[in-house]
Amino acid sequence: MIYSKILGTGSYLPKRILTNADLEKMVDTTDAWIVERTGIKQRHLAAPDENAVTLAEEAGRAALDAAGVKPAEIEMIIVASTTPQMVFPSTACLLQDRFGIAGCPAFDLNATACAGFMYGFSIADQYIKTGAIKNALVIGSELMSRIVDWNDRSTCVLFGDGAGAVVLGASSEPHVLSTHLHADGTHKDVLYLPLGTSKTPSLETVKMTGNALFKLAVNKLGDLFDETLAANHIQKSEVDWLVPHQANIRIIQAMAKKLSLPMDRVTITLDKQGNTSSASIPLALDAAVRDGRIKRGQLLMMEGFGGGLAWGSALVRY
Ligand code: UT7
Repeated sequence: MIYSKILGTGSYLPKRILTNADLEKMVDTTDAWIVERTGIKQRHLAAPDENAVTLAEEAGRAALDAAGVKPAEIEMIIVASTTPQMVFPSTACLLQDRFGIAGCPAFDLNATACAGFMYGFSIADQYIKTGAIKNALVIGSELMSRIVDWNDRSTCVLFGDGAGAVVLGASSEPHVLSTHLHADGTHKDVLYLPLGTSKTPSLETVKMTGNALFKLAVNKLGDLFDETLAANHIQKSEVDWLVPHQANIRIIQAMAKKLSLPMDRVTITLDKQGNTSSASIPLALDAAVRDGRIKRGQLLMMEGFGGGLAWGSALVRY
């Protein structure tokens, strides 16, 4: 049997920080509201000369270093991003050029929004498990600051910029135990970003019905945990870490409760980073791996949820 294994992780966060106090000067909001309703205290914002490719390159190189894998050994690049530098060439192709590794498949996942990293992780896992490839680079890279309406207090306080990456490689030991993906287009109206050919101006801003999305997230993710554990005949008590998408601390708390995990067994980055969409899961994973909280052999439940709706999970023996 061939399994995939997380060989290394990496992160990149732009230097500029926007605090809740800064936002108080921009829209009719308060630090107290943002912290109480979301858990977010600050977020990073990309500089004008940064884009999804530059962020992805920083995170990707850090993950390759951590994995001890050379760019030339990568056989597939997947970049999840709702904010690509261009519609095409893909962020993944532009990144491949920067790495000088022409030839391997490279593509973006755009429409899976905040669940994009789980989709990319699952696709790479399938290719590795079948023996088609040995190593894959999976990245979430987002500049949410470029697609939020900075006059809309209901969305602009939520998001941040950043990139997170993992190198997945083949292993004879079971590491990635299973991945699970879902989508439900009937909920297309709760979170969306019109683009390009259907609208003028070409790129609009994120539109969200927060409460409806909140309830859907809690329900769908709860079912997803049951499905993921059942597929592996694993009890929730065996899970060491929840590595969730970072949309709202109250959603994450509900998910931790569902797994009966204390909050110190949950990777939290949204207080410092906000919601970085498809970058949030690898960013949270990398932080906990690098500071030594997540250790080899521990069991991780990873989950992502976003516009589409699209959602997905992975159960990983780290
Ligand atoms: O990453 C993709 C997945 N994303 C999610 O899953 C997000 C899910 N949703 C959420 O996280 C929450 O619904 C939000 C954080 C977006 C909103 O929290 P909420 O507790 O659902 O608040 P709400 O939308 O029901 O708004 C409550 C009140 C409203 O005022 P009224 O109508 O009660 O007078 C809003 O106008 O809070 C008001 N409000 C604000 N007040 C101060 C909305 N945004 C703000 C703000 N500052 N930034």
